[in-house]
Amino acid sequence: MSTRINPSILSADFANLESELGRIDSADLVHVDIMDNHFVPNLTFGLGMVQRLQEVSPLPLDVHLMIDDPDRWAPGYAEAGAFSVTFHAEAAGEPIALARALRSIGSRAGLAIKPGTPVEPYLEMLPEFDQILVMTVEPGFGGQRFISSVMPKLSRVADAVGAAGLDIWLQVDGGITEETLLVAAEAGADTFVAGSAVFNADDPAEQIARLRAAAAS
Ligand code: DX5
Ligand code: ZN
Repeated sequence: MSTRINPSILSADFANLESELGRIDSADLVHVDIMDNHFVPNLTFGLGMVQRLQEVSPLPLDVHLMIDDPDRWAPGYAEAGAFSVTFHAEAAGEPIALARALRSIGSRAGLAIKPGTPVEPYLEMLPEFDQILVMTVEPGFGGQRFISSVMPKLSRVADAVGAAGLDIWLQVDGGITEETLLVAAEAGADTFVAGSAVFNADDPAEQIARLRAAAAS
């Protein structure tokens, strides 16, 4: 099974983002956390930053929108060239229409769910998506502890994807380390977002290699 390691620049040095991107160029995608201070109690950056990152990043962008009204805002990130655009189920008005809009622009469409959100209402929509993000912390901040109680939900998504024969990436985000990556992989995840584990390491490239080895084990 192919796996991916996506470092989150939420834990990077915001004053030196271009050189920070160079420290993680052995990863698969760059995870970009967009927060609006409404859907989550934190504020990061927006479309202008993503347009500029798209120009300088050696890796494709994996945009994670933690914002209200993604129906209105998400297509702009696809138009900016993001490889994938993931929006939250809790915030979307018309998730199927939005996924179709993102795909028609040329991005992969992703659906994210918070730790307390049941996945069952969304299983019938799986064919509309290229990736599902099961949050393993409450969205909003880096450096939190992995919530292992969401693993049964992750397994149910993995089972549904397998039963339907779909090619959908299963992403986890929050508290990912070499140890918790193994727990999430066991439950069916194949795409791992890691912020503080990568950027707080002395050598981010070495840490990416360790996470990659754990994912392949
Ligand atoms: C949290 C963000 C994550 C965050 C993960 O709401 O969605 O992408 O950067 O950070 P760590 O890996 O430190 O938990
Ligand atoms: Zn994220």
